[in-house]
Amino acid sequence: MPLLHRIARRDHEAIAFTLDGHACQGRAGDTVLTAILAQAEKLRFSEFSASPRAGFCQMGACQDCWVVLESGERLRACSTALGAGMRIATKGRAA
Ligand code: FES
Repeated sequence: MPLLHRIARRDHEAIAFTLDGHACQGRAGDTVLTAILAQAEKLRFSEFSASPRAGFCQMGACQDCWVVLESGERLRACSTALGAGMRIATKGRAA
């Protein structure tokens, strides 16, 4: 069950991306964090405790929301706009 439930931007342009190999859709204007948590119950697992994480500050300061693209590029999910065709991997090491 997704952690977030969309109450706004429901009619914005759909943006296709993949999350751990699964085809997903976000909406124009979503951050990567919003797009992921509208699909999943967690953003990633902590590299230290293996506990589920969903970001913390939501403003680019806490470093809790790192995810990786399948290309290996790391990005801060809370401050990165979702882009069409992003291939996001939450199961890889993001730290
Ligand atoms: S949630 Fe804190 S840096 Fe992204």
